Amino acid sequence: MSELQVSDLHIAYGKAEAVVGAALDAGQGEIVSIIGANGAGKSTLLGAIMGILPIRSGTIRFDGEDIARLDVEERLERGLCLVPEKRELFGELSVLQNLQLGGYSRRSSSKAAMKRSFDQAIDLFPRLGERLDQRADTLSGGERQMLALGRALMAAPRMLMLDEPSLGIAPIVNAQIFAAISKLGQSGVSVLLVEQNARAALRISQRGYVIEGGCIVLEGTAQSLASNDAVLRSYLGLSGSADASRDQQRERA
Ligand SMILES: Nc1ncnc2c1ncn2[C@@H]1O[C@H](COP(=O)(O)OP(=O)(O)O)[C@@H](O)[C@H]1O
Ligand SMILES: [Mg+2]
Repeated sequence: MSELQVSDLHIAYGKAEAVVGAALDAGQGEIVSIIGANGAGKSTLLGAIMGILPIRSGTIRFDGEDIARLDVEERLERGLCLVPEKRELFGELSVLQNLQLGGYSRRSSSKAAMKRSFDQAIDLFPRLGERLDQRADTLSGGERQMLALGRALMAAPRMLMLDEPSLGIAPIVNAQIFAAISKLGQSGVSVLLVEQNARAALRISQRGYVIEGGCIVLEGTAQSLASNDAVLRSYLGLSGSADASRDQQRERA
């Protein structure tokens, strides 16, 4: 059974529909990518699943339960966790304090369980362990993303939703971040991964969805998407520059 099942989801900002009848699902421990151009509706979709944005209609089931009317806290308690595009760290606090704050919403807050999550975060990102006393606002972009992910892990999530974790981060650090996401999937955490870096995302995903203008236009195994002509042209940059693929997007819109 799928852990997350979204069907016929409509989300609007005022009169403007940003997500139109989206349906998707993700199983336990599965890494599922959502790829699409800027403005396609990816962040809106994640925000609505987390409960930050209201939906107009549709259903969101998590572990069999309809969660569409629950507030953010209740969804956190059930194991959903969103790492937004703006990492939203507490800059004046240390790495350790940021990690500790990530644990406040968890169900099982025994010391031993907290320690396990902490160890998992440090194991995935040893760099954080070397910087526990450092203020978050002195970290590099890549380290900040590691901290945002580590903090999310402190909530012992069952499903992590990651909004463009590679945005603005050096390629060498991104490789570490994608490797860590891949490991998380293997450890049983489900991951919904929103990325403009489609190639890297599909490489670590089992399945994916392509979203255009708020509609899911394509879905399939990561392998089938990575070899799909339309995906290759629009998102994998094989027909020239990124500008060219953006122009194609605009023409279609
Ligand atoms: N707060 C907002 N108010 C009005 N429109 C918004 C708001 N946020 C996003 N939108 C619009 O909704 C659409 C989807 O945006 P978004 O979900 O941020 O796309 P993506 O994450 O794929 O870049 C875009 O047309 C965007 O302009
Ligand atoms: Mg976005």
